[in-house]
Amino acid sequence: MEIEVSSGRYKEAAVEALAVLVFKDERVEEGFLRELNDAAGGILAEVVGTDEFKGKEGETLYLHLAPGSQLTARRLLLVGVGEKQDYRPSTLSQWAGTAVRALRSRGAKSVGLVPRAAEIGPEQAAASAIEGAIIGLFETDKYRTVDKDERRIERLLVIEDGDEAALRRGAERGRIIGEAVNLARDLANEPSVFMTPTILAERAKQVAEERGLEFDALDPARMEREGMGALLAVARGSEEPARLIVLRYTPKGGKKGDGLLALVGKGVTFDTGGISIKPSEGMDQMKYDMSGGAAVIAAMRAIAQLDISIPVLGLVPAVENMPSGRAYKPGDVLRSMSGKTIEVLNTDAEGRLILADAIAYAKKLGATRVVDAATLTGAVSIALGDVNAAVLGTDQQLIDEIIEAGREVGEKFWQLPLDKEYSKQIKSDIADIKNIGGRKAGTITAAAFIKEFTEGLQWAHLDIAGTAWADEAKPYRAKGPTGLPVRTFIRLVEKEAAKQ
Ligand code: BES
Ligand code: ZN
Ligand code: ZN
Repeated sequence: MEIEVSSGRYKEAAVEALAVLVFKDERVEEGFLRELNDAAGGILAEVVGTDEFKGKEGETLYLHLAPGSQLTARRLLLVGVGEKQDYRPSTLSQWAGTAVRALRSRGAKSVGLVPRAAEIGPEQAAASAIEGAIIGLFETDKYRTVDKDERRIERLLVIEDGDEAALRRGAERGRIIGEAVNLARDLANEPSVFMTPTILAERAKQVAEERGLEFDALDPARMEREGMGALLAVARGSEEPARLIVLRYTPKGGKKGDGLLALVGKGVTFDTGGISIKPSEGMDQMKYDMSGGAAVIAAMRAIAQLDISIPVLGLVPAVENMPSGRAYKPGDVLRSMSGKTIEVLNTDAEGRLILADAIAYAKKLGATRVVDAATLTGAVSIALGDVNAAVLGTDQQLIDEIIEAGREVGEKFWQLPLDKEYSKQIKSDIADIKNIGGRKAGTITAAAFIKEFTEGLQWAHLDIAGTAWADEAKPYRAKGPTGLPVRTFIRLVEKEAAKQ
């Protein structure tokens, strides 16, 4: 898809269809809408403000313009965004997603976006609009060969008042972030037969080679030498060998600032539950149990493309959790890389085990702050549904920064408590800790388990089990993998860089 920008002149834009942002209850008798109405031959006055279109969030109105119109585009789509005071860059990203999905379904091949985003400035406006459009156009039907909808938008033009150079910079930034989100979605969407730990590592290597990141992937023999008994135990039931993927970004001009931030993502390429096997209904969904890992790989690519000024590590422990004659079993005791021993009481609580060793390895590589993302517990969907992801951790400043970064990019996080009392639930009778904490507070006890491996680190944990996959389509994006928390990761790293 070609991406272009234009300063201001929406009336002359040579596109098939124009999408215009409209606020709730915006009046057609004044301001921008009046100007647009005049240019479009008066048709807006007929419908804007009626029950058909009031500018409510997500509302759309599609019009073919009569020959009297002065607009070059022959079709016009109004897309509501709700109250003006609630408007932020993430509103714009969703608005653009809604606009391109609606216009693609009507066969438009070239589209002009008019975000009217004076308050947030042209650069941010272009960035959010392009990001949202790219995310909006992603589909999951890669393997469909018949009856496939081939409609495509080939050209996208952002039209906004302001300096063209700023618009172009913004559009490029939006493209990088949108494509990173879609990379994570594409990885998560792959069936496990095409997304083994080895393949995930190859994809990460490809990203590294294209973007100048350092790449390493530990195989089981190296994991053995590092003493990663927890990661190796989970991997043992599968024919597919485990990989611990490591990506390292070093800014041009060398290291800057104190400490080293590591992003760690759970990379279970398929989670059957192992010997504590899951019910067959819905098990197919467990192909996305590597969504945290996918987000890390995708965010690392964007971080390199955006030339961020601080170094960042990305780690993805990748395994397949399978039952077999070699699989680890309930009752087993594992020795983790940190030296702590773990009693396994449920082989389906595997994510925390692989994260334990990945975090220990991040520490060995010099990380001082760790943010992990994992589809870790079904319990988080019970607590927060598919609206908020859970954030927990030991560093309140880092947690606050994540929540704020998420707010800025439109990914929601809600903090859950992590009082030390919860750790009692994971005391083992025969080892240091056990890998499940009973029925109560499942998301918290999972985090309490990971916390055991974060001594000396500033640490936050994101449980994305309820938010990494959308069961329903939205006007602005397809159902399926959401790409969370790619945008938050990128924004967080930018915020960290800005502080140094
Ligand atoms: N991968 C699952 C969590 C999950 C559930 C992700 C639903 C996405 C959607 C995780 O490995 C798991 O099985 N967790 C168990 C933990 C339990 C055994 C303590 C769970 O949540 O049931
Ligand atoms: Zn599991
Ligand atoms: Zn899992």
